[in-house]
Amino acid sequence: MNIVILAAGQGKRMHSNLPKVLHPIGGKALAAHVLETARQLQPSRLCLVVGHGGDVVRTALAAPDVSCALQEPQLGTGHAVMQALPALDGTGQTLVLYGDVPLIQAATLQRLLQAAGEGVGVLTVTLAEPTGYGRILRDAAGRVVCIVEEKDASPEERAVQETNTGIMVLPTARLSGWLQRLSNDNAQGEYYLTDLVALAVADGVPVHTAQPAAEWEVAGVNSKVQLAALERCHQQFLARQLLEQGVRLADPARIDIRGRLDCGRDVAIDVGCVFEGDVRLEEAVDIGPYCVLKNVTIKAGARIAAFSHLEGAVVGPDAIVGPYARLRPGTELGAEAHVGNFVELKNSILGQGSKANHLAYVGDATVGQRVNIGAGTITCNYDGANKYRTIIEDDAFIGSDSQLVAPVTVGRGATLGAGTTLTKDAPADSLTVSRAKQLSLAGWKRPEKIKK
Ligand code: UD1
Ligand code: MG
Repeated sequence: MNIVILAAGQGKRMHSNLPKVLHPIGGKALAAHVLETARQLQPSRLCLVVGHGGDVVRTALAAPDVSCALQEPQLGTGHAVMQALPALDGTGQTLVLYGDVPLIQAATLQRLLQAAGEGVGVLTVTLAEPTGYGRILRDAAGRVVCIVEEKDASPEERAVQETNTGIMVLPTARLSGWLQRLSNDNAQGEYYLTDLVALAVADGVPVHTAQPAAEWEVAGVNSKVQLAALERCHQQFLARQLLEQGVRLADPARIDIRGRLDCGRDVAIDVGCVFEGDVRLEEAVDIGPYCVLKNVTIKAGARIAAFSHLEGAVVGPDAIVGPYARLRPGTELGAEAHVGNFVELKNSILGQGSKANHLAYVGDATVGQRVNIGAGTITCNYDGANKYRTIIEDDAFIGSDSQLVAPVTVGRGATLGAGTTLTKDAPADSLTVSRAKQLSLAGWKRPEKIKK
């Protein structure tokens, strides 16, 4: 089977420099959704028809299994399919999809293919408000006769509520002959793919129809209003899947998944969270409200409290992160580690049971187990030109407001006094402190305001 995806249209109503089919839903380009669904049907040929912004679209969606056909100028949907012909297998069926109808489901397409057999199949939907769509005209016996475009339809034809979704399957061997017979003698001066239905009927090729499971599957994107509406449909669908798997969502209407979210048993997610890229939440993980998680793994039993931002990190089992924590790429927290408010970690390992609970920057550091990092601690990892590592061994205690000027090592069991600026290694099991000795002047008087 061939699959042709039409994506040459301009999308004027998006008011954007980005070609329409590259606008995202769930963090992924509209046409990328269609490609992904198409691949589930294992076509022998997959061809994308591009036109407006063709080079940008081609580059953005390039893949070894996708060929691109350029349609320039755009003379209609029939003309678009004609451009794909050289890239197709000459036999079997050809399925036509739209690059701007992103949420079509493989199961629906399977049903359409089954209904069509070796004939023509049209995916139709009956709409309460069919304005703008091509109408499906049937004879007294209910057989499809043709599709008439809104602009070419009589008032009686416009009263028909069964519409063409645009998704169609046709026998490839007939395609070329039918496309050559198309004329553009119609209201829009275009070569309509939809006119192939009447040609099939004339040639005695049966035309069958199938319907999508939900209307949003066949909804197109022509404007930002429609893009936003379809984004909500998509998110609702994903939230529903999570609920059915047993994930507890505080509110399925307030979650955004822009990638893949994989959850173990008894995961709970509060409102307003955004998941990007590949996120894995293991068993009994708890995500507080308004967290952003991108490409992270959270191990079993860990808890991420409100307003935390995690990217490219691994959080160990039963660890506690946040509220207001930031884990940047390359961060690994051990089991039962604690990272509290206004703490930033980057490219660092925080060992099992270690804590950085308040106001700290830990960058390019390897921190052992059971270490306590006091409030206000900073690893000075950057000298303006190069980055260096800080090593803090097991059971060390870093007093508040310390600066660790890397490269530097704090030995096992060492203690740094508060306010230490560490420029040399701190030996194990000792107190290291770098600050002026405290002194008190007895009887010292504060200055008084001079009277004039
Ligand atoms: C088309 C159908 C109509 C159907 C409707 C569903 C035809 C003639 N009409 O109408 O029956 O109800 O879709 O949304 O097919 N495209 C190209 N090259 C072109 C023209 C279009 O690649 O020259 C692509 C567009 O980018 C879009 C799709 O084909 O993805 C549909 O084009 P559009 O102009 O939206 O067709 P409609 O007039 O809406
Ligand atoms: Mg349209």
